[in-house]
Amino acid sequence: MGNTTQSQSDLPAKQEPQQKTQAGNYFVSNYPPYSFWKPDHVPAYHEALERPPAADTRMGLYFHIPFCRKRCHFCYFKVYTDKNAAAINGYLDAAIQELTLYASKPFVGGRKPNFIYFGGGTPSYLSVQQLTELTKRMKGLLPWDDAEEVAFECEPGTLTDQKLKAIRDMGVTRLSLGVEHFDDHILETNGRAHRSREIERAYGYARDLRFPQINIDLIAGMLEETQEKWDMAIERTLELAPDSVTIYQMEVPFNTTIYRQMKEQGQLSAPVADWETKRRWVREAFERFEQAGYVITSAYTAVKNPEQTRFVYRDRLWEGADLLSLGVASFGHIGGTHYQNNADFDPYLKSVSEGRLPVYRAYTPTPRERLIREFILQLKLGQTRCGYFADKFGVDVNEAFAEPLSRLKEWGFLSHQGDLLVLNRDGLLQVDRLLHEFFLPEHVTQRMV
Ligand SMILES: C[S@@+](CC[C@H](N)C(=O)[O-])C[C@H]1O[C@@H](n2cnc3c(N)ncnc32)[C@H](O)[C@@H]1O
Ligand code: SF4
Repeated sequence: MGNTTQSQSDLPAKQEPQQKTQAGNYFVSNYPPYSFWKPDHVPAYHEALERPPAADTRMGLYFHIPFCRKRCHFCYFKVYTDKNAAAINGYLDAAIQELTLYASKPFVGGRKPNFIYFGGGTPSYLSVQQLTELTKRMKGLLPWDDAEEVAFECEPGTLTDQKLKAIRDMGVTRLSLGVEHFDDHILETNGRAHRSREIERAYGYARDLRFPQINIDLIAGMLEETQEKWDMAIERTLELAPDSVTIYQMEVPFNTTIYRQMKEQGQLSAPVADWETKRRWVREAFERFEQAGYVITSAYTAVKNPEQTRFVYRDRLWEGADLLSLGVASFGHIGGTHYQNNADFDPYLKSVSEGRLPVYRAYTPTPRERLIREFILQLKLGQTRCGYFADKFGVDVNEAFAEPLSRLKEWGFLSHQGDLLVLNRDGLLQVDRLLHEFFLPEHVTQRMV
């Protein structure tokens, strides 16, 4: 992560340092940033595993499937498109072995996961047989009967009727479809493996199977996006009426095909819309969803019925839940220590085959860093209660974050409403940029937009 060294105090106040989409990460998913996690913190993770869990802390399970049919030009995830069935089976065996190692640890003990998440890559790339076998083995080690949510990411073109049925039978409650767009030319130009016909088919059958929650992912600002095509994508999404819609603003990190091409051609900015246009597209989309009765529940999400449709994985993680993360390159959190697994396939397999947990870097945040992490993640919801932090951390956030809060207020993005701190729509649409204001100075190493 990160290529610039501009410090927080160098930046102009309300305005972005630049508007064009340049290479680098935008989305803040954790704190402190991953680049500060180090191999010398790994012993703290091992120590945490030998202790019983803190009372009242929920535990989730994340299973990473790093395989895809094709690599999308904008994708920054570590994915493999060249693994055959034998290699995939070997990987699934290794991840089950990893879960077996965890199941024997005092930290896990008899705990049952409160939520389960299959992410990727493309979990729906697995065959029916692989999925059925995998979940049987997972449940044998840590039963799922206390799970409030089982979430599963899909690339629409990998979904046959038979596979969707198997996914439903596994106990999946939240099916998330990586639709991204409905225009075939845009899908093709961005390197997606699926086309609109496959979305329609998969969506229809998923509805027939009565998944409790179907989410659609969209990206604002794909290569060759136009106002007309974006409007069409929003209207088509509304016609399908999913339970929730997640809209990301296109970012172009360094490990993407788009960035490689930019470099070859000596371009400084990516051939996608600028940040102002992407924000406008998300703003317009949110307004359309609101007109149709949806509620905006975070910087990225519109939800049809917020009373019924919750996103347990996100909410628990943003509240500091424990997360056992399985698979290559996956990120987890155990008893106060963040960790990441080996990011390469063969070292990951080797480590597990030798009976060692495949963790290569970790970080134990200080109490101040834990507070910052939770506060900035909660701000992505658009509002947060000061009382929550007083109860949990014994801290008055108005004092702890007096300076950044007053900056956000001065810039017109934030207000106090009683105990609530509320971001307005402008602030919400650029929240990831604003969150850097709350970072400790030593963590402000990059500022992409
Ligand atoms: C792991 S993928 C979802 C499942 C499946 N791999 C797929 O793409 O259909 C997670 C989501 O991240 C989003 N995403 C990936 N790369 C992105 C980028 N460069 N900018 C914004 N969003 C991105 C996409 O919306 C994608 O659906
Ligand atoms: S966006 Fe999804 S399907 Fe495309 S390469 Fe990334 S993980 Fe795979």
